[in-house]
Amino acid sequence: MDFSRTVLVTGGSGFIGSHLVCSLVNRHPDWRIINLDNLDYCCSPRSLESVEDKANYTFIRGDVCNPRLLGHIFSTENIDVVFHLAAKTHVESSFVTLSAFQWVNIEGTRVLLGAAHRAQRRPQRFIYASTDEVYGASLHEVFDESSPLTPSNPYAATKAAAEYLVRSYWDEYKFPVIITRSNNIYGPRQHTEKVIPRFLTLLQNNKKCTIQGTLPKSRHFLYVDDAVDAFLKVLERGTVGEVYNVGTSCEIPIMQLAGELIKMVKNIPDSELNDWLEFVPDRPRVDLRYPISSEKLQQLGWRAEVSWAEGIRHTVKWYQDNPDFWSGASNEQGPIRSEPGNNSSQYVASSVP
Ligand SMILES: NC(=O)c1ccc[n+]([C@@H]2O[C@H](COP(=O)([O-])OP(=O)(O)OC[C@H]3O[C@@H](n4cnc5c(N)ncnc54)[C@H](O)[C@@H]3O)[C@@H](O)[C@H]2O)c1
Repeated sequence: MDFSRTVLVTGGSGFIGSHLVCSLVNRHPDWRIINLDNLDYCCSPRSLESVEDKANYTFIRGDVCNPRLLGHIFSTENIDVVFHLAAKTHVESSFVTLSAFQWVNIEGTRVLLGAAHRAQRRPQRFIYASTDEVYGASLHEVFDESSPLTPSNPYAATKAAAEYLVRSYWDEYKFPVIITRSNNIYGPRQHTEKVIPRFLTLLQNNKKCTIQGTLPKSRHFLYVDDAVDAFLKVLERGTVGEVYNVGTSCEIPIMQLAGELIKMVKNIPDSELNDWLEFVPDRPRVDLRYPISSEKLQQLGWRAEVSWAEGIRHTVKWYQDNPDFWSGASNEQGPIRSEPGNNSSQYVASSVP
C-alpha cells in the first residue's frame, strides 16, 4: 500500500508516545507510523497491543543515540514528520544518573536532528516534546513562550539543552522544527514512578500515599488525550521555528491530589484521610508549581477538552481494571543506564509487514 505520509515517533512505546502512536495509527490509516523505541524500563510492550497488527504501524526497537541506525532509518524510510519524545523522564532519577539523562536527552536529540537534517528527503516537520519544567518554578508569574529558561533540576536542564540544539537547527538551516512545552500529563498506562500512578498503586496495595516534604507543592495536570490533540494541532497548524506551551488551568495541590485519590480508591470519609498519608523527606530543592499560558496554542484552535473530574475518573478506573499491567514489565528492574558507547541496539525489523 502507498502511504501519503510517513511519521516517525521516537519513544512511541512510552506513556505519551503510545497514546500518540495509537491515535495516529487509528485516525490516519493512509499514514505510515514508525515507532522507534529501545523499550526502556518505563514502557510496556502491552501499551501498543491494540495497533501492533495494523498495516500502517511499524515498530523499530533501537536507540535514538545510535547514529548508524538513525542514518539508516532516514535514508530508507522517507520520513515526512518526526515527533521526538524518546527521553529519560523521571526527575528523581535524574539526580542520581545524570549522565544517562544527558546522553539520551541531549545526545539522542543531536543524533536524531543530524540524521533528519542530512536525509535526502528532508522531513517537513520535526516536533520536539519539551516540558514546562524548563522555565523553572514560579509562585506568581505565568510563563509564556518568551519567558527565560531557568531549569532547576537535572532532567529539566537536559530538556532545555536539547531545546537549544533543536532551535539551532532552525536558526542555522531553517530546518522546520517546532517545540512544545507541556504541563504534567496523566492518564492510563503511565509508569508507576509518576505521581498519580504511584499513589494509585500504593493504595491498591493497601499502602499509604507518600507525600514528599511539607511544602505546598502543586502541579497542573493535563489529560493525555488533550496532549495528543495538541501534538496533532501543532503538526497541522503550528508555525515552524515556534514554541507552543501546552497547558491547563487545572492546578491541583499534591496533598489534595492524594486526598482525592484516597477517597476514590478507598471510599472513605475525609476524617479518615490521614490514615492513608505518610510524610517522607523531600529533595533539598523542589519546584512548587509551573504555571504556563497556552494562549498561543489556543489561537491555533486547541483547547483542553477533558475535565479533571472526567480524566481522573477514567484514569483511576483504568488502574483498577488493569492492576497487573506493570507487574512483570521490565520496569521491575528499575532504571537502566544508557551510557555513551552503549549503542548495541539492533535494527529489529517491524513486527508487521
Ligand atoms: N509525562 C509528562 O508529564 C511530560 C510533560 C512534558 C513533557 N514530557 C516529555 O514527553 C516525552 C514523553 O514523555 P513520557 O511521559 O511518555 O515518558 P516515558 O518515560 O513514558 O517514555 C519515554 C520513552 O522513551 C523511550 N526511550 C528512552 N530512552 C530511549 C532511547 N535511548 N532510544 C529510544 N527510545 C528511548 C522509552 O523506552 C519510553 O518508551 C518526553 O520527552 C518527556 O520529556 C512529558
